[in-house]
Amino acid sequence: MTHQILVVEDDPAHARMLKTLIADWGYEVVLADDGDTGVEQVKSRSFDIVLLDMKMKRLSGMEALKQILEYNPSLPVVMMTAYSSVDTAVEALKIGAYDYLTKPLDFDRLKLTLERILERIFLQSENQHLKERLKSTALHHNILGKSPAMAALLDTLNMVAPTDANVLVTGESGTGKELAAAALHDNSPRKDQPFVRINCAAITPTLLESELFGHAKGAFTGADKKRKGKFLLAHKGSILLDEIGEMTLPMQVKLLRVLQEKEITPVGSDDNISVDVRVIAATNRDLKAMAKQGTFRQDLFFRLNVVTVTIPPLRERPEDIPELVLHFLARFSKKNRREIKGVAPDAMDAMIRYAWPGNVRELMNAVERAVVLARTDYITRMDLPFGQTDESETPDRAHGAGHLENTPLSRIEKQAILSTYAAADGNKSETARRLGITRKTLLKKLKQYGKDK
Ligand SMILES: Nc1ncnc2c1ncn2[C@@H]1O[C@H](COP(=O)(O)OP(=O)(O)OP(=O)(O)O)[C@@H](O)[C@H]1O
Ligand SMILES: [Mg+2]
Repeated sequence: MTHQILVVEDDPAHARMLKTLIADWGYEVVLADDGDTGVEQVKSRSFDIVLLDMKMKRLSGMEALKQILEYNPSLPVVMMTAYSSVDTAVEALKIGAYDYLTKPLDFDRLKLTLERILERIFLQSENQHLKERLKSTALHHNILGKSPAMAALLDTLNMVAPTDANVLVTGESGTGKELAAAALHDNSPRKDQPFVRINCAAITPTLLESELFGHAKGAFTGADKKRKGKFLLAHKGSILLDEIGEMTLPMQVKLLRVLQEKEITPVGSDDNISVDVRVIAATNRDLKAMAKQGTFRQDLFFRLNVVTVTIPPLRERPEDIPELVLHFLARFSKKNRREIKGVAPDAMDAMIRYAWPGNVRELMNAVERAVVLARTDYITRMDLPFGQTDESETPDRAHGAGHLENTPLSRIEKQAILSTYAAADGNKSETARRLGITRKTLLKKLKQYGKDK
């Protein structure tokens, strides 16, 4: 596409010369012989660049510039000005002109200026396209964590979500498998259709079949009404089969058939109902190992595991902990109507170092408990379940004045002595000196705390 250049110049000879020259460089040139016409042109069609003469009889270049930019603030306008009026040119730059060239024009410079502007426009539009593309594919989710492991996980979710592939989500208990499953559904073309979840471990094996596939009236004792199963409820949407590892082998056979035929048969009925459901399965068990041992059907494993999404345990991504802690802190302060202002550094430290066998769920519960129990408006180590097990082993180093309120003096004394003792590397004379007590008093106290060896 040829670029369109508007030349606004009231000297006909100069205008004609510019037109020939610029057309020669391969651009399309439109001439306007005064400021008013120039502004009219800008409003009536689109240009890539405007070359605007500063000194014109009708409507000055400056005034024309203002009107052009008012109409299209991003249109690059290059002012052409006499040497003697460089001051006004600078003024024009302030108003928003892209650049200025002095007359008589240096043609090489003019050519270069046009090329630079067009290149910049090109890069900007590329950038814009890229941003739009990224925006349109950005994953919507509530999954916190910026560690490389989580970034990789989000990448995978982003790639897999829009497809119809069955996904197996694995990860230790409390790592966020349900959250990941929800993100898969919410970012798929099925997002406006149902997302149905069923916990295969929470339902007795005999009831699971009717839960999944429904039952006919009178199919079994208590089945006084016909009932739709979860698969039918999830029609056109997605189903999360949570804790799939707990499903019995006979049930696995039935599920496999449904996945193969894309049809369900309600309990006690002869009907085959076709269903269109995307299956997301989740488990904290090692299905592959179970398949080897024969406790999980290999063929079902392959069906479910078209793509595996594995969520790393929290202990492998401690850098995610502060963000999670602060998120839960805000959430539970609000929920419990407590104004907790923050987390003492030693408490945060302890949380970062703790291994969290129950992963994010355990962290979440610990933060809620701390919010409820906190004695001051900061969460301290004492408020954490693992922070108070043996305080003599873990002297509180970072106690600020804020944490001292409502604390028994004996405890403050003990903390002061033990943390100073630790900071002085167990040097008793030094500890006594720092605390302003005699060595004898210190020895007595240490003995009391069982630290006299
Ligand atoms: N990355 C995360 N960002 C924010 N919240 C999270 C994250 N991971 C987990 N959670 C929260 O932690 C809790 C546990 O997550 P979820 O129920 O998804 O875990 P799970 O892997 O299904 O656990 P289980 O195996 O015990 O069923 C939920 O409240 C969830 O919202
Ligand atoms: Mg779960």
